[in-house]
Amino acid sequence: MMNDILTELELRRETARQGGGPQRTVAQHGRGKLTARERLELLLDEDSFEEFDMFVVHRCIDFGMEKQRPSGDGVVTGWGTINGRLVYVFSQDFRVLGGSVSATHAQKICKVMDMAIQNGAPIIGLNDSGGARIQEGVDSLAGYGEVFQRNIEASGVIPQISVIMGPCAGGAVYSPAMTDFILMVKDSSYMFVTGPDVVKTVTNEQVTAEELGGAKTHTRKSSVADAAFENDVEALQQVRRLFDFLPLNNRSKPPTRPVFDDPERYEMSLDTLLPDNPNQPYDMKELIIKVADEADFFEIQEEFAKNIITGFIRLEGHTIGVVANQPRVLAGVLDIDSARKAARFVRFCDCFEIPILTLVDVPGFLPGTGQEYDGVIKHGAKLLFAYGEATVPKVTVIVRKAYGGAYVVMASKHLRGDVNYAWPMAEIAVMGARGAAEVIHRSDLKNPDRIAQHTAAYEKRFANPFVAAERGFIDDVIRPHSTRKRVARAFETLRSKQTKTPWKKHDNIPL
Ligand code: HXC
Repeated sequence: MMNDILTELELRRETARQGGGPQRTVAQHGRGKLTARERLELLLDEDSFEEFDMFVVHRCIDFGMEKQRPSGDGVVTGWGTINGRLVYVFSQDFRVLGGSVSATHAQKICKVMDMAIQNGAPIIGLNDSGGARIQEGVDSLAGYGEVFQRNIEASGVIPQISVIMGPCAGGAVYSPAMTDFILMVKDSSYMFVTGPDVVKTVTNEQVTAEELGGAKTHTRKSSVADAAFENDVEALQQVRRLFDFLPLNNRSKPPTRPVFDDPERYEMSLDTLLPDNPNQPYDMKELIIKVADEADFFEIQEEFAKNIITGFIRLEGHTIGVVANQPRVLAGVLDIDSARKAARFVRFCDCFEIPILTLVDVPGFLPGTGQEYDGVIKHGAKLLFAYGEATVPKVTVIVRKAYGGAYVVMASKHLRGDVNYAWPMAEIAVMGARGAAEVIHRSDLKNPDRIAQHTAAYEKRFANPFVAAERGFIDDVIRPHSTRKRVARAFETLRSKQTKTPWKKHDNIPL
């Protein structure tokens, strides 16, 4: 008797695991995609996955749906560990009704989201779905709505990561859009609110799914996605790597790792990182990598607004968020895209107690009608606002230029930077010397010699970090080779930083 029951259980489990059957698995593999369970095996530690709701079936009786009621209803949910740390997961099974979202499918996702919020562990969603289950109508929409509401409640409480591993269309894109990170797989995933056919009908544009919402579009043009990877295996490995940088929730600190890289390591090559000519570019990533523990840098939005760099490193084994101007692209200028990119990153770090290192080399904000008409004032203010409201430890190094409003924005002392350093070659001024001379000495504009003299005088006065240091806006002028040591020591002093902000319901960041 007992044996029969156990056999029945095994049978039921096996049926659920089969999804839509072997041919559907072949089709999924044929598209270069893994199945929902294969993905979870790669994402989670071996044998750590515990599944919930394997036997759930939908309750729809329209359009003949009562005849197909696959166990699990197109999504695999549960929890497991990544390098020993708890995580809740859901993985949509495209083999079952195209991974489409029914009321019960959504309920399964909501259950793990609720558990994740309650137990203070991140949630990772592996998305591969045809969107709302068409046969269910408004029940399916209601299900999505419940998921959205939980995304909003979880925001800033637990890290939420979305991996797009197949189609993600219609309202389905809005759940990932509200999570902290969106990672895509190249050539097999796409996201759009309305697909190519609707676009053709409404706007008469002819566009492929890949062009409209593939990984390239979303990592380079729209900035909807934070990174893209070659295939499912690489994407899942990189999710594990990202996860290791993050805390479990907003009340716990990010994990620390044993360090084998001396925090006091001098990096002599940094003394010659800057070219002699201050208008020549160099690669800011070199500085980031040389400061980081073991040269390990996880970059966020690498392909978008390359004039600013954002990502995670560790110092003495502790996670640090890095924001750095990149002089190689548009001279590292701040513009709408770079301000938005960095502001979102700064706010993520602040939500989850991740200290921020800011490396500054910025000639100011990008001028022009394009920027002004598109609202650079509001978008630039996002970064200003994000830095000013962030109460996590903030350490800033002015590497070279820090001009104008951009000087203030980039985690200056005035926005409660905790420790602000400058390299000896830093130039902190309202604007570049030549521009300054032309404004102050307008009457000499027709006399190039006089302008050159004024430029030289302005340069002598301001093209150094000491005017700011005299006022205490810079805490110390440091030697480039000692940057890792000085920054690591500064963060060490800030580990138990506490601040007070006036009570408010929430702020009103310029959106
Ligand atoms: C029910 C669906 C489905 C859906 C796919 N399927 N999407 N069933 N509801 N939304 C089923 C298909 O009927 C098919 O079943 C199986 O899944 C595999 O789909 P195929 O079309 O054979 O696969 P493929 O050729 O790879 O195309 C994938 C696709 C396409 C691009 C996703 O299926 C598609 O366009 N689906 C509809 C997308 C859509 O319009 N969704 C609603 C969006 S609106 P059989 O049994 O025939 O193999 C929305 C609103 C949410 O999501 C709003 C929230 C607020």
